[in-house]
Amino acid sequence: MDDDLPPFAMVEFLFGDRDAALTVMSRGKRFHVFFTTEDLRGPQRDETLVQTFLSFQKSMDNDPHAMEALEEWMLKPCVSYMDQLAPSIPRVEPPSLAEYFNPETFFLKLANREGRLEAIRCPDDPLVTHSLTPRVSMSDPTVSEAISKGVLRIQALQLVAVLEPDAHEADYDLIPNTVRAIRRDTQFHFKGAFEQESFRRELDTLLRFRSDSSFDDLHVSRLGGLVTWDDGLSIMGLLVEYIHGSETLGYAAEDASKAERGKWAQQIRATVKRLHDANITWGDVKPGNILIDADGDAWVIDFGGGCAEGWVDQELEGTKEGDLQGLSSIENFLGIKAIGHEATET
Ligand SMILES: Nc1ncnc2c1ncn2[C@@H]1O[C@H](COP(=O)(O)OP(=O)(O)OP(=O)(O)O)[C@@H](O)[C@H]1O
Ligand SMILES: [Mg+2]
Repeated sequence: MDDDLPPFAMVEFLFGDRDAALTVMSRGKRFHVFFTTEDLRGPQRDETLVQTFLSFQKSMDNDPHAMEALEEWMLKPCVSYMDQLAPSIPRVEPPSLAEYFNPETFFLKLANREGRLEAIRCPDDPLVTHSLTPRVSMSDPTVSEAISKGVLRIQALQLVAVLEPDAHEADYDLIPNTVRAIRRDTQFHFKGAFEQESFRRELDTLLRFRSDSSFDDLHVSRLGGLVTWDDGLSIMGLLVEYIHGSETLGYAAEDASKAERGKWAQQIRATVKRLHDANITWGDVKPGNILIDADGDAWVIDFGGGCAEGWVDQELEGTKEGDLQGLSSIENFLGIKAIGHEATET
């Protein structure tokens, strides 16, 4: 990262051919930085900044650092605002979920000022703030069902981010995926309710695992609870029981033996078969959604739906067929061909 920039973590980055919007957290404050290519041209219709933006975009496909370079290009003109609005503070305690998702937010528009990129402070845009805030109503039918079934509810104020002891300043600004209840050691994986459909899909599936004991031995995500906003009227997201000492299949496969890869392929296929027999589709098959635990067993996680390019074709998204295609992709990735439940090496 550029030394001149304050510590920050990217929250969201959206861009097209004609505009870009970058949201970052820095020292506990949120900055939404945006422009259209019209803003970059300025009154003199100078194309230089537009060309610079488009060249960043062009290199995205083949340069893994292009995105970071574009972020820095957009943030550099904002540094004096960031230093002034989010001054350096000693970060002792990691933020609670309530603090993290309700920060002071500043809107900065980038524009061409005599050929240079300049940041201009703008009024708040409630639509943007809304889209960055994970929230679903307590009266949502799936949420109501969860509550009626006695699912644990924990206030967002009571859950704090878990950071490594050697965390850097910018790590305090990362979306808190791993959280812990204050005064308790229980750790959870937090999933924010950003997209209602995806949140409902996941909660609904996790409720099924919870209410049917035939799933008890299955290696799948387990619902740990719901996170409530302090208004008492809405839910921020859900908690999944933490799988300690795990890593995603993508990492685990790097130095795994053939026997381990074969075992994982077989375990994942068997889990998916059990899900399909119960009419549940997994939905987003990819190595990042498989965890290998400390005992070397494979867990199927992430029931929020979706489909990742190269793993499942878009037209098969959310179908059993899509899951089966994803399984074949995983087996190819592992260099394993599973026949029925017996995995053999390819
Ligand atoms: N129960 C868990 N225990 C430990 N780590 C977990 C757990 N669930 C998820 N993770 C970690 O968090 C990552 C993201 O989780 P998940 O896939 O559920 O969320 P997501 O919102 O779909 O994220 P992404 O879009 O990155 O896939 C996983 O790849 C894994 O590294
Ligand atoms: Mg995922």
